[in-house]
Amino acid sequence: MKNEQLDYGTFEATLERSKMLEQELQKHPEKYKVLTGDRPTGRLHIGHLFGSIQNRVNLHRMGVPTFIVIADYQVLTDRDTFDNISENIKQLTIDYLAAGIDANDGKTFIFPHSHVPELNQLLLPFLTLVTNAELDRNPTVKEEIIASGQKRINAGMYTYPVHQAADILFCKGSVVPVGKDQLPHLELTRTIARRFNDKFANKKPVFPEPQPLLSPAPIILGLDGSQKMSKSRNNAVMLSADEDETAKLIKKAKTDAERNISYDPVNRPEVANLLLLISLSTGRAPEKIAEEIGEGGAGQLKRVLTESLNEYLRPLRTRRRELEQNLDFVRDTLRSGIASAREEAVKTLEEVREAMNMTI
Ligand code: TRP
Repeated sequence: MKNEQLDYGTFEATLERSKMLEQELQKHPEKYKVLTGDRPTGRLHIGHLFGSIQNRVNLHRMGVPTFIVIADYQVLTDRDTFDNISENIKQLTIDYLAAGIDANDGKTFIFPHSHVPELNQLLLPFLTLVTNAELDRNPTVKEEIIASGQKRINAGMYTYPVHQAADILFCKGSVVPVGKDQLPHLELTRTIARRFNDKFANKKPVFPEPQPLLSPAPIILGLDGSQKMSKSRNNAVMLSADEDETAKLIKKAKTDAERNISYDPVNRPEVANLLLLISLSTGRAPEKIAEEIGEGGAGQLKRVLTESLNEYLRPLRTRRRELEQNLDFVRDTLRSGIASAREEAVKTLEEVREAMNMTI
């Protein structure tokens, strides 16, 4: 199917397309290239693991070539601190590897975009393909501006979605697994690819229009019952936490006054969230787990969660500890990821220069 015919007009249509794409990927993994990324702002927690990392691991296991960009420049858009970026890049890489991404299979690459100059150079022509008004009305950027609490907003904040298009298009990424909040950015990437091809390369298109892959990811609330699990709110179980820390956090988790445990996400969100985590750790239905705990109440619920989550995370955490003792391996993984990313970026930039009549 040609890209122009795809319907991304509504969230439902995007979800529908995602499901079809998922089936296509299973049939022909080699025809696609996955590009995903994260900002290196800290270690990952189980919200990330169940929300997006596992989905990436699945794609990776299907055999789809995968580029994972660590978006270190993006960190500077909504904060002034940069002291921990290097450490966070390492920790994030360790989390990926421990979660089951094999970056030594010859088709999976992890790299920080600050180390790939030719990728960054694409930002310049791309900036000329979008208008200020388009950048101004990006809903995700608007939300991030409010969330940052900053009075002075730097231009990087408005333009990072264009930079993100460079992250995706430098390797001609065709599938981008994302959460809902990233859809405006992906739409902009599609627009940039289309405009570039129309303006400079209408005979021989340079860029594909990448498709979003919305994972059916469950939304994990914080253990305090708040809307989002996040390290800064102290309501997250980090992948790097040990079993005792995990037990302590779960002990403090918010529940409600009703003793009998039932699975009711609308009326009992906190209890439902804990049941969901047990379900994700054991592969069993949350309703069934609730039934078994029943009058055992919150105490029993938390004991079951502690046990099943710790058991589920045990192999990942063991790998994590091994990797922390083997930082040379982590560094080598990044170095070879950077080298491969650069190879791709150099080729693409050549094509881009040629299309724009800038060869000498
Ligand atoms: N904006 C993404 C986030 O905040 C991170 C990101 C950077 C990204 N470049 C990307 C995601 C390319 C997907 C594709 O999480």
